[in-house]
Amino acid sequence: MKHLSEKTKIFVETASIEDRILSCRNNKWIGYGQATKIMSKLDEMIIYPKNHRMPNLLIVGDSNNGKTAILDRFKKKYESYVDEDISVVNPVVYVQAPPEPDERRFYNAILEVLFAPTRTSEKLDSRYLRVKRLLEKLRTKVLIIDEIHHVLAGAPAKQRKFLNVIKHLANDLQICIVCAGTKLAFNVIQSDQQLANRFEPRVLPRWNNDIELKRLLLSFETLLPLQKESLLIEPSMVNKILSMSDGLIGEIAKILELSSIEALKSGEEKITKDILNNIDFLSPLDRKKKFIT
Ligand SMILES: Nc1ncnc2c1ncn2[C@@H]1O[C@H](COP(=O)(O)OP(=O)(O)OP(=O)(O)O)[C@@H](O)[C@H]1O
Ligand SMILES: [Mg+2]
Repeated sequence: MKHLSEKTKIFVETASIEDRILSCRNNKWIGYGQATKIMSKLDEMIIYPKNHRMPNLLIVGDSNNGKTAILDRFKKKYESYVDEDISVVNPVVYVQAPPEPDERRFYNAILEVLFAPTRTSEKLDSRYLRVKRLLEKLRTKVLIIDEIHHVLAGAPAKQRKFLNVIKHLANDLQICIVCAGTKLAFNVIQSDQQLANRFEPRVLPRWNNDIELKRLLLSFETLLPLQKESLLIEPSMVNKILSMSDGLIGEIAKILELSSIEALKSGEEKITKDILNNIDFLSPLDRKKKFIT
């Protein structure tokens, strides 16, 4: 079983078929090129010395193409801990932007992830101060705001106000801010000249039929608990998976999950073109068509 990573190989040799099926459903992590580059940028933020112009990052990509997966991995890498003075340190705080640019809900989102109480009657200024003090006390280095394109769901004046809050927090606390969202997020940040200057954009493009995609499929293959090699990088398999997935990593992961389960149930022990043709999967394009008709 040379096609498997050492850990997967041991698992395949020892686990029951039921456990192997279950493991197909677990999210995998593959450090593909752009994800690794973004991760090292994020790592730098953790040790970046405080100054009045901290680096900020904007991760842009289509839905289902790996933005949150990177942020989640980063957050898990820097879990909160208790230091020698018995104070809690929380280096990375992750929140989602509220569904519209609402300052109050944004502070609440931060307070909630920090398990701090939220009071409906509390004034905005006081909420802001509490958020600021908490992030200072927890020695937070990076504040992540996912789904930042939600800001566009509000009137321009509200949008500006919300972006000013982000600027204010970043300046006041001298922390790094990481925003992520769809292409619309790009417009959000570009709408404010100061933010546009301060946020370095990083794009997660859709996958194409190139060496990067082959590397990704090769990495997936080392993690799928199948006894036989599927040869996912064989050109017709690559084409098939690419057209089914519409170039989105989330769809690729789903296709491989369903196919490996089928490969295990059927006893085939490898993903074949027949299996790919027969799994219960609609490509994103077909899903859209089905919705329209
Ligand atoms: N690095 C990775 N390795 C393996 N699988 C991945 C990776 N990144 C993403 N995936 C797969 O793609 C799925 C979708 O990724 P993710 O949730 O990060 O997308 P997203 O860009 O945040 O989408 P949305 O804009 O809809 O929130 C994940 O659930 C996972 O199955
Ligand atoms: Mg996401």
